[in-house]
Amino acid sequence: MSEDTLVRFEKHGAIGVITVDNPPVNALSPGVPEGIIASVDAGIADPDVKAMVLIGAGRSFIAGADIRQFGKGRPPLKRKTYDAFEASPKPIVAAIHGYALGGGLENALGCHYRIAVASAKVGLPEVLIGLLPGGGGTQRLPRLIGPKIALDLIVSGRHVPAEEAGQMGILDRVIPADGDLLSEAIKFAEEMADVRPLPLIRNDDSKLGEATAGGDIFEAKKKQIARKARNQIAPYNNIKAVQAACELPFDEGIKRERELFEELVSSDESKALRYAFFAEREAQKLPDVPKGTPVRDIKTAAVIGAGTMGGGIAMCFADAGIPVKVLEASQEALDKGFERIRNNYEVSVKRGSLDAEEMEARFARMEKVTNYDDIGQCDVVIEAVYEEMSVKEIVFKELDRVMKPGAVLLSNTSALDIDQIAAATSRPEEVGGAHFFSPANVMKLLEVVKGSKTSPEITATTMALGKIIAKAPAACGNCDGFLANRSRAPFNSEMVIMLEEGCMPEQVDKVMVDFGYPMGPFAVGDLAGLDIGFAGRKRRAEADPNYRMLPIADKLVEMGRLGQKTGAGWFKYEKGDRTPHPDPEVADLIRTMSKEMGNTPREFTEDEILKRLLFSSVNEACKILEEKISYRASDVDVMWLYGFGFPRYHGGLMYWADGLGTQDVYNQIAAWHQQYGDRWAPSALLRKLADTGTAFREAHTLVG
Ligand code: 3HC
Repeated sequence: MSEDTLVRFEKHGAIGVITVDNPPVNALSPGVPEGIIASVDAGIADPDVKAMVLIGAGRSFIAGADIRQFGKGRPPLKRKTYDAFEASPKPIVAAIHGYALGGGLENALGCHYRIAVASAKVGLPEVLIGLLPGGGGTQRLPRLIGPKIALDLIVSGRHVPAEEAGQMGILDRVIPADGDLLSEAIKFAEEMADVRPLPLIRNDDSKLGEATAGGDIFEAKKKQIARKARNQIAPYNNIKAVQAACELPFDEGIKRERELFEELVSSDESKALRYAFFAEREAQKLPDVPKGTPVRDIKTAAVIGAGTMGGGIAMCFADAGIPVKVLEASQEALDKGFERIRNNYEVSVKRGSLDAEEMEARFARMEKVTNYDDIGQCDVVIEAVYEEMSVKEIVFKELDRVMKPGAVLLSNTSALDIDQIAAATSRPEEVGGAHFFSPANVMKLLEVVKGSKTSPEITATTMALGKIIAKAPAACGNCDGFLANRSRAPFNSEMVIMLEEGCMPEQVDKVMVDFGYPMGPFAVGDLAGLDIGFAGRKRRAEADPNYRMLPIADKLVEMGRLGQKTGAGWFKYEKGDRTPHPDPEVADLIRTMSKEMGNTPREFTEDEILKRLLFSSVNEACKILEEKISYRASDVDVMWLYGFGFPRYHGGLMYWADGLGTQDVYNQIAAWHQQYGDRWAPSALLRKLADTGTAFREAHTLVG
């Protein structure tokens, strides 16, 4: 597109309107800043123009720099848009709808005034892609709203709703969501056309003293983020840049901001985070679901089962404003489930993340029902009953009987055959999988499973539904464990098998926490309850005589050490405290059982622990890709990021493995195949990738 069409300049009486038109989100792609500057120059040169408005066409103001352009070595622009705004002798009003993010908000901050519709959101989310606001945002925002709130916004990357941004002082005027933004902005510009001096944020240092007035806000922020931001540099560079705003004159602060930005833009951390940003968006594109496939309207929902999972799923609907009926066989089970839901909400109210009135509104959207006939008119139903095929079949027979034509029928099974479940109905094309991760109201991943008969419309609707209920949806085909749990299963086995060789749970957990996981996998097991994995292993062993049980893990369950809920699992826990403590009893058990298995305990390096866990899953993911259960490696990454807490600054499981190279990964797996036997047999695809020097993220090109 030429610069002329990316940015338009038109006169509305005495007001020059600069419209950025770079769909879909008006990112500042090459040509956009140049077009804006040319328009400002045109407005300045025209004697009839008294003031200007900067506005975005389509659904948004400006969503920031074009993220795809980073790392392409484009030389920085000689003249910046905000320098052009600040040099203008005529006032410029930024008119915001949709999003003003990153470079978008920075441009607005360079303007003299800002007006927005109430539905708009503003923010500086650069930290989320491992960057900092490199267009003056770290210098202007603290001057505009004070360094304390600015620091919070910049280090969190939070999108701030317009009303709140108005109260903070980021926006001068907020108009109703259905207001006519362009007319209001023109009116505002006319009002301000003759007001002098022109307000420039760079000239007002009056709020900066706040940084030192009540203690050192920068040190306090570093302490606050220390755990979450470990191993990362971007959050700290963001803090340094805001600190520079408070300590240096404006122009020097801008130079410092640029230096700190440059350090980040080429960092592995930012590359991985940018990759994760696009992987999440790529996951929305399903090659076998044609563009334009109709998406069904979901206005009402039903959930079968009020257990932990069903309750969490019902909360997702209620949180998104969708009325939801929850069905259980008995009133008692329903009451118990609703009590659990209320407790969950009350925790949020106590923490201050939800207000009591909103909690009641959400609760009011949930209805208890005990009869299938009561849910028949719902647009979607999600089954979340006991994980047993015969039980699911009975439920789906009932759903087939009562659900209206056109209803979407979904199962939350985490492993069972979607085709068999669908076969219990007379409409298998209307049935799919919607696998939530525990706790369902918290974990972001929604694994959308396509059965062999699931229609593209059902898959498209389930993906869209995922977005509506604020999840990160990603799709895959039907197999035992689907994509996420199947690719994770070898990791779960390998961590216990390493104990048989003399490794200790606390060693494994330390390695994975150091790698960036919020918790170690053994501590996670204790949190979830060790009986769950045990039941799954028994089920698999019954179905597959070659299935390898995990004697040490099984023994713990037999000893009644089920995890946090019994005060002891892989670790022991003090009453009322969730901190895992290594337990000599477990160490003894491991040593004894390991000896009984004929093993001589040995030392493990951190590198071996990390690779034993993650490579086993990389190999399985390759098999999943090979079988075309997954469209592409980046979907595996999305699932690991949102389903298993894989550290985002490593990009995702497969992106991380790409950093090591397919050849090295293959060599190590082949060596472990020699040493340990079949479970490490390299997938054919992995071998092919290594032989051809193809990256995991290009794997789909070899699968066809
Ligand atoms: N650069 C390039 N592409 C972008 C983009 C950006 N900043 N923002 C969005 N896109 C693309 C997406 O990749 C997607 O493309 P696709 O259709 O080909 O997949 C399309 O625009 C639509 O995006 P979403 O699917 O995310 O649309 P939503 O409506 O769900 O969300 C949004 C809109 C909230 C704006 C979200 O896209 C977003 O968070 N974008 C990134 C915002 C951001 O991080 N801005 C800061 C950029 S860095 C910067 O400005 C540096 C500066 O300080 C120097």
